[in-house]
Amino acid sequence: MCGIIGYIGQKDVVPILVEGLKKLEYRGYDSAGIAVVDENQIHLRRVKGKISDLVKNLKSSAPDGSFGVGHTRWATHGRPSEENAHPHRDCTDSLVVVHNGIIENYLALKKKLLKEKHTFRTETDTEVIAHLVEKHFQSSLEEAVQKAVQEIEGAFAIAAISLQDPGKIVVAKTGPPAVVGLGEGEYFVSSDLNPLLPHTQKIVFLEDGEIAVLDSQGAKFLSFQGKPLKKKEDLITWSPLMIEKRGFKHFMLKEIFEQPQVVRDTLKGRISLDSGKVFLEEIGIPAQALTKIAKVVVIACGTSYHAGLVAKSFIESLVRIPVDVEFASEYRYRDFILDKNTLVIVISQSGETADSLAALRAVKKSGARTLAVCNVVKSSIARVADGVLYTYAGPEIGVAATKTFSAQMAALALLALYLGQVRGTLDEKRSIPLIEDLQRIPHRMEDILNQAQSIEKLAQEFLSFSHFLYLGRDINFPVALEGALKLKEISYIHAEGYPGGEMKHGPIALIDEKMPTMVVVPKDHVYEKMLSNMSEIKTRVGYILAVAFEEDKEIRDKVDRVIPIPSTGPLFTPFLTTLPLQLFAYYIAAKRGADVDQPRNLAKSVTVE
Ligand code: F6R
Repeated sequence: MCGIIGYIGQKDVVPILVEGLKKLEYRGYDSAGIAVVDENQIHLRRVKGKISDLVKNLKSSAPDGSFGVGHTRWATHGRPSEENAHPHRDCTDSLVVVHNGIIENYLALKKKLLKEKHTFRTETDTEVIAHLVEKHFQSSLEEAVQKAVQEIEGAFAIAAISLQDPGKIVVAKTGPPAVVGLGEGEYFVSSDLNPLLPHTQKIVFLEDGEIAVLDSQGAKFLSFQGKPLKKKEDLITWSPLMIEKRGFKHFMLKEIFEQPQVVRDTLKGRISLDSGKVFLEEIGIPAQALTKIAKVVVIACGTSYHAGLVAKSFIESLVRIPVDVEFASEYRYRDFILDKNTLVIVISQSGETADSLAALRAVKKSGARTLAVCNVVKSSIARVADGVLYTYAGPEIGVAATKTFSAQMAALALLALYLGQVRGTLDEKRSIPLIEDLQRIPHRMEDILNQAQSIEKLAQEFLSFSHFLYLGRDINFPVALEGALKLKEISYIHAEGYPGGEMKHGPIALIDEKMPTMVVVPKDHVYEKMLSNMSEIKTRVGYILAVAFEEDKEIRDKVDRVIPIPSTGPLFTPFLTTLPLQLFAYYIAAKRGADVDQPRNLAKSVTVE
């Protein structure tokens, strides 16, 4: 939430900051701003609205300069407005700060600073940072930042510039991410890798409690206490092309279509059909330790939580150990019971979600083994967990998660197979057909994507509905939840997901001709049960759309519309049932004119509580 960017080098800074902010816009988009240093002046440009509004503002006269910082905001303290947009200034206008995170003690700090005669101009928590740095400034910006961060409680990644100590950007982080890009005579800071990819692949990931000082000569690193640090450089292999739309109208649509490849990439090199083996030694938790696990707890938020519910079925079925799936935001405050024989899996595509990270940190104290399932290499969650299982979805720009969900399911299916293998609950006879099934999934996904046009046509008929119900059972109940989440978050149509059998305990009261129901009904062991649930809806004049196997002729008389999908073994149906629901939500939202990639009120990476 919120994106920060900074550049120092020889080039014109404004296009670099603006292009960077466009790539960070998924993190927040209610206001934006830049500060550019030219000779001995800081030029500030801030707007309420999106980066496109900032671009319009800069069109008439963009400031010149070769270093500066920028910010795209997702408001927490202070409504979206030009005044509350970052960068924020000190009293003298000679120091600016951009910030991602929340300063928890900002009211107490503000009170103190007001007594010391600092003048505040905004309603934000960030402004206290500018005044704190001003207060502590003697001659070096990094020293002032060091002193300021000692007083701050909360989560922050900040970048500061001062005219009193010119020619440098000082970055400090504890909580939200900050990455430093090392170019040839040019240096960058950003909230994530995406803005850096067109410029450099040499990256340094800042850890909590660290400061980076960037000037035209290079980057140096310090602890909050001022101790010099030697940091490792990483070479990032993501290519800048991965973050282009490539002819698709929206990133979300492009990312939906990337799913077959994403599943292939996530499986690649990790399975052998000949031996029926899965190779996941890379996760960094010894197989011996995995044999002692008596319970699994999965912790995640949103779509990643739904992947966790699917994983529950994978693991319980193949490994025969109980799995609890928990919302990170709830679990972190619970009096949980864990021990060293529990494996805690934290699923997070970004690896930066504040609730998931905090839950992971809390859990680590209990002695439980922790494993992260992340899409972003070296993200905070990946670094804090004992082990990490990466998904290979590439950067996901659309705020609504799609391809990372499929990649998470693929990684978690592998994990379940691997656990079954090392614990001896899964022999070759059972694992080979499962691996075969898994390998065929991308191909079947392509079949579904090839009929996207018919889903688009179907979506056209449902643009004016205000409510939807999504039903599924067993492993397809999380798919129903995910389908409902996609629809509500991008089209703003109210949608709820329910297990089919729960309908009669309340939600059936909602059924009428204005409330269509989407049922996820592959031919599995709960198929007949779903048919009964559907018949209960039909009796009450409800309209039913069904995602069902194409060979299932029986379903056609029982529902109003069918979205056919190829068949697969029961355990892996969610890979296929999810796709039509993503497409259905996408086309409805796009046709209603919604801002599909950047839905209102949302941000992709939720780095605040
Ligand atoms: C929904 C969506 C969110 C995220 C959630 C967790 O489309 O994208 O619900 O799934 O914010 O994010 P990660 O996986 O980054 O922890």
